[in-house]
Amino acid sequence: MSSNDRLTRELREIQLCPGNEVCADCGAPDPSWGSCSLGVFVCLACSGIHRNISDVSKVKSLCLSRWEDHEVQFMAENGNDLMKLRYESCVPVYYYKPTHRDCQVLREQWIRAKYERKEFTEPGKSFRYEEATRDGLLMKRGRDNGQFLSRRFVLSERDGTLKYFTKFDAKEPKAVIKVDTINATFQPEKIGNPNGLQITYLKDYSTRNIFVYNDNGKDIVDWLNSIRAVQFHYLKVAFPGATDLELVPKLTRNFLKEGYMEKTGPRQTEGFKKRWFTLDKRRLMYFKDPLDAFAKGEVFLGNRDHGYAASPGLPAGTHCNGAWQHGITIETPDRSFLFTCETESDQQDWLKHFDDVMSAVMSPQEYTMEALFKHRH
Ligand SMILES: *[C@@H]1O[C@H](CO)[C@@H](O)[C@H](O)[C@H]1NC(C)=O
Ligand SMILES: *[C@@H]1O[C@H](CO)[C@@H](O)[C@H](O)[C@H]1NC(C)=O
Ligand SMILES: [Zn+2]
Repeated sequence: MSSNDRLTRELREIQLCPGNEVCADCGAPDPSWGSCSLGVFVCLACSGIHRNISDVSKVKSLCLSRWEDHEVQFMAENGNDLMKLRYESCVPVYYYKPTHRDCQVLREQWIRAKYERKEFTEPGKSFRYEEATRDGLLMKRGRDNGQFLSRRFVLSERDGTLKYFTKFDAKEPKAVIKVDTINATFQPEKIGNPNGLQITYLKDYSTRNIFVYNDNGKDIVDWLNSIRAVQFHYLKVAFPGATDLELVPKLTRNFLKEGYMEKTGPRQTEGFKKRWFTLDKRRLMYFKDPLDAFAKGEVFLGNRDHGYAASPGLPAGTHCNGAWQHGITIETPDRSFLFTCETESDQQDWLKHFDDVMSAVMSPQEYTMEALFKHRH
């Protein structure tokens, strides 16, 4: 057996050890690359990011590259668990740690923050996310013309708000957003920019979207984590008895599902129209265009013991003029909603999500939300 075969086999054995069976950076299973300077095993996608920080990380394929004895030894002595203790010992609880399903900019900035900037190796270094205010320019999509223009954004921990201004020296903000109503998620495909961030918030009980980006990946990810830091601070005050682990899930979260369905109006004679749907927990919103500022409508999805149901198909006799065939009927105490999906798998996927939501027990806040919905319609 050549020495390289031997080393490849040894590496494989080390990679199967606890901690090394998933990517050190994104958790993807079965990492096939290693950083022989950092001593961590990473997946193919993360190895590409490591290659761009060649000052600190030297990546090699576990089976295709040539490894030296001392490098294999180094991998054995270090490994993912040990290096996590070094590079992730002080990650703030609110910091968004990406998974392999997250977009490139989040994963890249996490890897750079960890190994290049070494933000999490000692306490206090990541304090910059918690500065009392964050003030800077972001490109924001205009509501009416869809053009992106530079706008000044100010995040204030003391006020618990995110404001934006149309002119840099304007006294009055164009909008004042309360941080406790914000859900911020990266949406590169929808926005058409790799650093595109969607900020959703509530205004007068209805949902409003704004779409921003910044060419600087670090800057836009810093904005996300600063918003989360302020939200976390707000939650600590609002729920003084709660533990950090109980509060983190209340920070901005991703939508359960988004995509097109066709929908008919309340009289069910208007014909089916294609709409963009976003499911955020119990709130099913629909938009004419995925980048619309306001939802055209919202449906509250309560618990199935209280008159809510979702089933495949449409009521007999529905005049189905739309192009899509795979129907879904949602019953609420007030009315029924008819949707159609393009494919059966899409229909099944939506139904699974509706089912999960309707099976879950409602929280006191969700009862309040249901009452507000009833009040509005
Ligand atoms: C590495 O950097 C180049 C140049 O900035 C960039 O185009 C590429 O997408 C980066 N690759 C990864 C995987 O981050
Ligand atoms: C996120 O969205 C939900 C539903 O729209 C809303 O109730 C909540 O306040 C938002 N913010 C957070 C931080 O979850
Ligand atoms: Zn990875």
